[in-house]
Order: sequence, then structure tokens, then C-alpha cells
Amino acid sequence: MRRSASEIAIMRKAGRVVAEMHACIREAIKPGVTTRRLDEIAREVIERRGARSNFLGYGYPPFPGVICASVNDTVVHGIPGDQRLREGDIVSIDCGAIVQGWHGDAAFTTGVGAISEEAQRLIDVTEESLRAGIEQMIDGNRIGDIGHAVQTVVERAGFSVVRDYVGHAIGTAMHEKPEVPNYGRRGSGPKLRVGNVFAVEPMVTAGRPETKLAEDGWTVTTADGSLAAHAEHTIAITDHGPEILTLP
Ligand code: MF3
Ligand code: CO
Repeated sequence: MRRSASEIAIMRKAGRVVAEMHACIREAIKPGVTTRRLDEIAREVIERRGARSNFLGYGYPPFPGVICASVNDTVVHGIPGDQRLREGDIVSIDCGAIVQGWHGDAAFTTGVGAISEEAQRLIDVTEESLRAGIEQMIDGNRIGDIGHAVQTVVERAGFSVVRDYVGHAIGTAMHEKPEVPNYGRRGSGPKLRVGNVFAVEPMVTAGRPETKLAEDGWTVTTADGSLAAHAEHTIAITDHGPEILTLP
């Protein structure tokens, strides 16, 4: 879908709420904090901004949180709960917000206290791959250019791109078509146009790319137990290039 400038202006508001949720959660990430407490912090921001959560109640079984909190070998969709973060863990926080019917969606990964060099490199490479994907979001390029750029950065660093989950268009629903894979061939897939808005979200593992789904129906871990990181922004294609909407 191609969104108008006024529609993108509302999506920018939703994106700012998501950025504020991220900032408040980031401050609270310390050894000993539970992922449930991080979820409560996100709920407070949503309430304060008069927004709604697009995660809460999503899918089946209905997702019970307003954030996903995914620790160490959990790739995505970790359910917030009693788990306490420990020094040396890495944790991915994914959350979204709806403002006036328009959606924002973004994720980041960070260390808890001091972490290993390899874990930090995984986080840095994941962020770099997202930046490389975003750079391709130019009118006339194709979806495959995004995935190719992400994959190139990740694999050059010796890490793997998850195939089982992908990014997506976003607007009046969180998940719209087309999908935005984090792998692909240059020049392949649908053409990108001014007004398109996508959630680009590389999921990167330090080992093999295969995942497995837990009995709870949500928690996705690496099949080989390796560490995983996730980074995501909601980005609009404008006539002066990509604009990240999920920034403060
Ligand atoms: N934010 C995830 C995505 O990027 C979706 C989360 S699923 C939910 O597509 F159930 F937690 F909402
Ligand atoms: Co998303």
C-alpha cells in the first residue's frame, strides 16, 4: 500500500510512542529485573500516551504481553513473566503501539550488565544489518534489495539470518503484505514506492539459522542453542529516501 503524507504523519506519532517505550525499558534493564516489570513499564507508556497495544491479545493463543522479551537463545516472541535478567544475558525487546488506528513496531537487543565480546558483536552486526537494509529503501528498488543487504552484512560477519520469520508491511494492521525477508537476491521481488511503510526486522543467530517453537505456542528459540539478536524499525519510503518512524 502507498500511504499519504498525512497518514505517515500519524504513523510517526505511533512510532514515537514505540520509541518512548524502548527508552523507558532500556533504562530499566539491569541484573535482577523481571521481564514482567519491563512489560509493566511499556504498559504505563502506552496508557500515558493514550495509545493501544498491537501485541496484547494478538494471534492464537492470544499473546499475553505488550512486549516480547527474548533472552539469549530466544530469537523472538518471548513471553514476559517471572524470568529475572542476569548479568551477561542479552535481551531483545520488541513492542508496538496503535495511535488513531495506525501501527508502529520496533525492537532492539541489548546486554544486561557486562556481556561477552561475541555477544556484543552479534548485537552490533544485527544493528548494522538493519541499517544496511534501510539504506535500500528507495523508490524504484525492490524488496529483495533489502534482504540482500541485510544478509550480506550478517553472513560477512560469520553469523546466520533466520528464515522462519520475516519483516512486513505495516499500516492500519501490524502485519500487512508484502513480507520483507532478511535474505534474498538483488533486484528481486515487488518494487518499492514512495508511501510504502515496512517493518524491517533482522533476526540473527551466532550459530545455525534454524529455529524451534516452544510448547507455549510463542517462544521461538534457536534449534542449536546459539545466541540470537533482533533489531527492528518501522520505516517509510519518502521522496527524499527512507524515514525511520520509530525514533524519538
Ligand atoms: N512485533 C512482532 C513482529 O515484528 C510481532 C509480535 S507478535 C505478538 O512482527 F504477538 F507479540 F504481537
Ligand atoms: Co514486526
